Amino acid sequence: MTSLDAAERPDVPPASRWLDDPVESGPAAGFGVYLHVPFCAHRCGYCDFATWDDKAGWMDRYVAAVHDDIARTVAGGRRVLAPAGADLDDAWPRVTSVFVGGGTPTLLPPDDLAGLVERVAGELDLAGDAEVTVECNPETASIALFERLVAAGVTRVSMGAQSFAPHVLATLERQHGPERPVEAIAEARAAGIGEVNLDLIYGTPGERDEDWAETLRRVVAAGTDHVSAYALTIHDNTPFGVAVRAGAMPLPDEDVQAERFDVADDVLGAAGFEHYEVSNWARSPARRAAPEAASRSFRSRHNLLYWRHGDYLAFGVGAHAHVAGRRWWSHRSIPRYVTAIEAGASPVAAAEELSPVERAEERLMLGLRVREGLHPVDAPPLDPAALADAVGVGLVTTSCGRLQATDRGWFLLDEAVRRLM
Ligand SMILES: C[S@@+](CC[C@H](N)C(=O)[O-])C[C@H]1O[C@@H](n2cnc3c(N)ncnc32)[C@H](O)[C@@H]1O
Ligand code: SF4
Repeated sequence: MTSLDAAERPDVPPASRWLDDPVESGPAAGFGVYLHVPFCAHRCGYCDFATWDDKAGWMDRYVAAVHDDIARTVAGGRRVLAPAGADLDDAWPRVTSVFVGGGTPTLLPPDDLAGLVERVAGELDLAGDAEVTVECNPETASIALFERLVAAGVTRVSMGAQSFAPHVLATLERQHGPERPVEAIAEARAAGIGEVNLDLIYGTPGERDEDWAETLRRVVAAGTDHVSAYALTIHDNTPFGVAVRAGAMPLPDEDVQAERFDVADDVLGAAGFEHYEVSNWARSPARRAAPEAASRSFRSRHNLLYWRHGDYLAFGVGAHAHVAGRRWWSHRSIPRYVTAIEAGASPVAAAEELSPVERAEERLMLGLRVREGLHPVDAPPLDPAALADAVGVGLVTTSCGRLQATDRGWFLLDEAVRRLM
């Protein structure tokens, strides 16, 4: 089968309605809220995220500004944020996921961090089973912090472990040793956090095969529910970028990174993790002891919302939001963001509306990142010849009736989308 055979399937709407009648994508994917906390005690040399130390003392004003931003945006209603002509009313959908990311959210005083989550729950309708994640640096964790977060409704913690090899942690300029993430997971569990993710980075210069094998062994032993593993990326504007340009640090070896990826897939797969997205593995629910969790997936609902082209609000510096094909983002500078809000002005730096072709490309690119790909209703109308071409060169498959990337297509997503569109 080389076509999605949409015309012959009763569950597939006419091509022109693929954006409006989603099965899993778009509005059907849920509705999320992202909160960005941009402070870090130390800026790791590889990191390109919107983060700063807080030597200038902005933290209190920043937290107050995010509260105001949430309240004003919600009060303004959805219609003003949607694209002109979109058939949307002012009501906000029920929130299915909240993600507090950074930076280091856990650098905030616990009451301030919990207060941001409580503000979202107070302003919007938070689903009873919403996934509420907070990113946590291991050296900032404590039982008291996690207990406060649980009381605020936090259900999930995403911990940056990166590696369990001391010399790799040193190269990455991490502020914790290899034991700390494991202790922090135990503290999170003891406080009642239901789900834990560990972030890993592989292919750091100086990392050996045995370092990666040991890291994966420790990850499996740590009892995490989810693993995000990223190949080290060198960004030009970071200290690592400067060091590479100066010849003081080698570029990560892409072949080595590809091998590390394969090893991660083998080890995590053998330990019962489902490789459900290019960089993400979720523990199979059956492996968890708690009977009430047996039917739940440990996939990240918030990230699935992004990959399924859903709608989400976003608050804080440099945070990107999306409603029905319109995207906007806030100033990336803390002083600009805070002073705009304090002056009663908008903190939005810019916005863009995606054309139908851009929306189609984006939905394909994001949807193909997930293992099971796109339901035919969610895939934009495709030229049968283009689809046959992409299938023929082994980038995608429709063999189970869905549009899926093959393993090769996962690594060549740009090429797969280019051929399909
Ligand atoms: C937004 S960061 C925040 C995580 C948290 N502050 C920490 O460091 O533990 C999320 C994750 O992105 C990954 N990451 C950041 N920069 C990266 C880079 N240059 N290459 C690969 N992964 C990176 C790391 O795994 C990190 O844990
Ligand atoms: S990796 Fe985490 S701790 Fe390091 S600078 Fe980036 S956000 Fe901060």
